[in-house]
Amino acid sequence: MTALPTAKVAKDDSLHPLASYKTLESDELHQRIEAVRQSMGDSLLLLGHHYQQDEVIQHCDLRGDSYKLSELAASSETCRTIVFCGVHFMAETADILANRPEKLESRGGDRVTVILPDMAAGCSMADMAAIAQVEDAWADMGEIIDTSRVIPVTYINSAASLKAFCGRHGGIVCTSSNAASVMDWAFERGDRVFFFPDQHLGRNTALGMGIGTEQMPVWDPYALELGGNTEQALRDSRVILWKGHCSVHQMFRPEHVEGFRKNHPGIKILVHPECPREVNDIADVSGSTGKIIDTVRNSPPGTKWAIGTELHLVNRLKAEHPEQEIHFLSPVVCMCATMYRIDLAHLCWCLENLRDGCVVNQILVDDETTLHSLVALQRMLKVK
Ligand code: 13P
Ligand code: SF4
Repeated sequence: MTALPTAKVAKDDSLHPLASYKTLESDELHQRIEAVRQSMGDSLLLLGHHYQQDEVIQHCDLRGDSYKLSELAASSETCRTIVFCGVHFMAETADILANRPEKLESRGGDRVTVILPDMAAGCSMADMAAIAQVEDAWADMGEIIDTSRVIPVTYINSAASLKAFCGRHGGIVCTSSNAASVMDWAFERGDRVFFFPDQHLGRNTALGMGIGTEQMPVWDPYALELGGNTEQALRDSRVILWKGHCSVHQMFRPEHVEGFRKNHPGIKILVHPECPREVNDIADVSGSTGKIIDTVRNSPPGTKWAIGTELHLVNRLKAEHPEQEIHFLSPVVCMCATMYRIDLAHLCWCLENLRDGCVVNQILVDDETTLHSLVALQRMLKVK
């Protein structure tokens, strides 16, 4: 019997529309990106998260941490297109806020188009909580505790469907810059908080408010029953934490802190609250990327820092502050691989398509999800 030939799937990269951009030199890409920006004027807004690589962030009109970028998207006036140099959940948030009903009305119904240059720029933490898992957890815990007194809080690093869940259940969105105020907001309205998807931000914030870990069970969506908790643990809980984390920030360890303190007397440790508790507890300062930048900016020459957050931001701070001594807290590379997917080639490709009347990689949140997530996002924007 003659063997059948193995099926061969054509995988010719040259067929991909991006392939021709990938072969261009950086100088040419920079020039072409700038040409589109010039031709589109203020109808185009490029927003960039602080973790973006330098060659991308230099083209952004405005940059910020998650909270600031949400505010910027919410307040955009003239732009008709936002190109979001960040990750998927940020672009979704921008779409929801820039196209909320009063904004749409003021533009006579015209939407702001939100584009994510590479659709694969997701967030591994956001992917750790799917809406079906959160809904199952809510129903399961409702067998043991009164969920009408539980306030769901989602970290902004989550899909829009989770934000909508919070909007529907009297909850709210938080960012790393307002998590403590959001927890206060929640405890003014309920007895417990259900916090997802980042256990570390939830735990670090609640510890700062004097809540003990014995009142913070962790809900594992893959456990067979009650997220791996006893009924009593849920009854005793004040904050129920989702078992999720950031793969970048979990790499920082207490021994890195100890090593720097030993070898660099006088050094201060500055970390993002997505770091594990063991690191956050012994740091000198903990805060959002915006706070990390402000802290360095406002420090006198000669200050020594070891910083525990994404590598591109730390390297940028090092370059911008030669008058200070800045170290990366981990001996291994901790970079956000998904943010890094946004490169000059993708940026140029989506911008030139846009200029030529072809929208690629649009992020469009459906009306139902928008309606409910907007409730939770607007609550967040009121809580500084
Ligand atoms: P902030 O921008 O809120 O500090 O969050 C950091 C982060 O991990 C973004 O994904
Ligand atoms: Fe997600 Fe962590 Fe990357 Fe932020 S740094 S986008 S939380 S994976």
